[in-house]
Amino acid sequence: MLAPGLIARTLSEIRRDVATARSRDPAAQDVRPLEILATWPGVHALLAHRVAHALHNARVPLLPRVIAAVSRAITGIEIHPAAKVGNGFFVDHGMGVVIGETAEIGDDVTLYQGVTLGGTGFATGKRHPTVQDNVTIGSGAKLLGPITVGHGSKIGANSVVIHDVPPNSTVVGNPGHPVRIEGRRPEGPDADWVHLPDPIADAIKALAGRIEALEAAAEEPAPATGDQPAVRPLRPVAGTGAEPGEEAGQPGLRSNRSTGPNPAGG
Ligand SMILES: CC(C)(COP(=O)(O)OP(=O)(O)OC[C@H]1O[C@@H](n2cnc3c(N)ncnc32)[C@H](O)[C@@H]1OP(=O)(O)O)[C@@H](O)C(=O)NCCC(=O)NCCS
Repeated sequence: MLAPGLIARTLSEIRRDVATARSRDPAAQDVRPLEILATWPGVHALLAHRVAHALHNARVPLLPRVIAAVSRAITGIEIHPAAKVGNGFFVDHGMGVVIGETAEIGDDVTLYQGVTLGGTGFATGKRHPTVQDNVTIGSGAKLLGPITVGHGSKIGANSVVIHDVPPNSTVVGNPGHPVRIEGRRPEGPDADWVHLPDPIADAIKALAGRIEALEAAAEEPAPATGDQPAVRPLRPVAGTGAEPGEEAGQPGLRSNRSTGPNPAGG
């Protein structure tokens, strides 16, 4: 038996989710709330996630994942039951949206289709983005790793964001970079807040390049130049009976063949 308090809270959450869709989606302005409730995939996914997340927190086995899987099949929006989603969350259109296990989403966040809040590999622990309040993430944007998107920021469609995003900024492109911070274009030497200079890494890179060049130079055979010492031709000197390479008075130049053991035993 459901407690009256729980029913009242659930109804108020449904009303708020429908109102969010109506205010955030221009196509929903003139649509009646019941129609939005029946046909808006973003609303369905959010309601399903609320149930799955509550069951997950209550440590109910299997059911949270089943609810998430059914919701994904219907809406194309995959939200892991453990993901934390705030109030006023809205996914417009749905389809191809993935929200990972350790993702955290603040209040009044909007996502368009094809957004991924994912991890970068097989790391465990906190590995998905944290999205603060009032953030909008454009269609196809990929936010990867345990990064933080500051409140009030916008992420452009199809951006790939792997670094923290300052609050109230607009980040676009691949790799994502800020084109507006607090409403202004970033300018001057500190314009790129994401890729700050790292002198130690630069020095290590320079040393590694130098070592590589030296190794390559050491492996190369020395070029034959005019400065090389002249090679004396080895030829017998007439009348001395000397072997090639052995001149009169220079027995030390006799070849191994002539100084080795006598094959005849002599
Ligand atoms: C990122 C976005 C929110 C920016 O909106 P904005 O605050 O009005 O900013 P602007 O349009 O002034 O753009 C700022 C700069 O970023 C560039 N830019 C905007 N969106 C971009 C994107 N997705 N990719 C690359 N560059 C982009 C603009 O060309 C502009 O560059 P400039 O400063 O050199 O002129 C918006 O462009 C966007 O991508 N929204 C997503 C909408 C969406 O997914 N809709 C799907 C509906 S189905």
